[in-house]
Amino acid sequence: MVKQKSCNHYRAIADTFHPSKAIVVYPGDCLDLLKTIPDETLQLVVTSPPYNIGKEYEQKLDIEVYLQQQALVIAECVRVLSPRGSICWQVGNYVDRAAIIPLDAALYPVFSDCGLRMRNRIVWHFEHGLHCSRRFSGRYETINWFTKSDDYVFNLDPVRVPQKYPGKKHFKGPKAGQYSGNPLGKNPGDVWLIPNVKSNHVEKTEHPCQFPVELIERLVLALSNKGDWVLDPFLGTGTSVIAAIRHDRRGIGAETVPKYVELACTRIRQEMEGVLRTRPMDRPVYDPVEAGNCLTVAPWPKNIAKQKSLSEKTNKTDRITD
Ligand SMILES: C[S@@+](CC[C@H](N)C(=O)[O-])C[C@H]1O[C@@H](n2cnc3c(N)ncnc32)[C@H](O)[C@@H]1O
Repeated sequence: MVKQKSCNHYRAIADTFHPSKAIVVYPGDCLDLLKTIPDETLQLVVTSPPYNIGKEYEQKLDIEVYLQQQALVIAECVRVLSPRGSICWQVGNYVDRAAIIPLDAALYPVFSDCGLRMRNRIVWHFEHGLHCSRRFSGRYETINWFTKSDDYVFNLDPVRVPQKYPGKKHFKGPKAGQYSGNPLGKNPGDVWLIPNVKSNHVEKTEHPCQFPVELIERLVLALSNKGDWVLDPFLGTGTSVIAAIRHDRRGIGAETVPKYVELACTRIRQEMEGVLRTRPMDRPVYDPVEAGNCLTVAPWPKNIAKQKSLSEKTNKTDRITD
């Protein structure tokens, strides 16, 4: 029997915004969708815009033209954002004749000119991607979190992660016997190691750059409350809407490419039916050594032995001179 999620059961996917709806996938340009949304309606905007690097769904533009286009979308997102709301713009690098331009740096003035305040520049670290031969391979992108005011929604408890020493207690002093860390877990910090969606990831579709659902779940839980609207103006495969409805928020997004609109609707329906396979938020990243993977024997054991003996010698010398 198919597992059903009661709260999402049989909710229809609308294709235009209306305050009475809970799920909207607009098949078209995000600026057209944004025009139909009243001011200060949405709690969270989370997106990964086209990076202008010539992916199949984008036309590579001069960086200035690209930034102007982004500025139009960002201004509209700010207009529809509620006073306690947040915008998370996830970007990597634009590549210009083999030189990189970090898009977060290029876009920062656009957000600050709209009066937004930056709360975190989260480094999303992942371990798979292109192998570069003329520079170090890129293994992070950033999530740039801005708020509209200083009074904003931030729920830390639902996104806490396990402490390094979960049961550790103070052993002396006035707090002796009490937990030294928060028993609910620690703040996840601003460097997030979350696997990106590559070929063997359980969520992989034909889209070239999908968000992992767990990445957006963390933002949805921390920056919105139940019943709030979450918008992704560049929806792709529907990940942001999926993360939103999974946690009883309302989800809305726009996507121009028909096959991705179809894919997004299919995945959203699977989520509502409880059959969408995703990587769980609390699963630790695969560690080949811990998993006993025999392919991980280092090819340089002799060097390590030599370094060890050198360091032992140094330690002895240190003790003599101490
Ligand atoms: C980087 S991808 C986002 C992928 C998405 N985060 C996911 O998890 O699948 C950007 C998406 O924006 C779409 N797109 C590009 N320009 C658009 C526009 N003006 N309005 C709406 N969607 C657009 C592209 O077709 C592409 O699927």
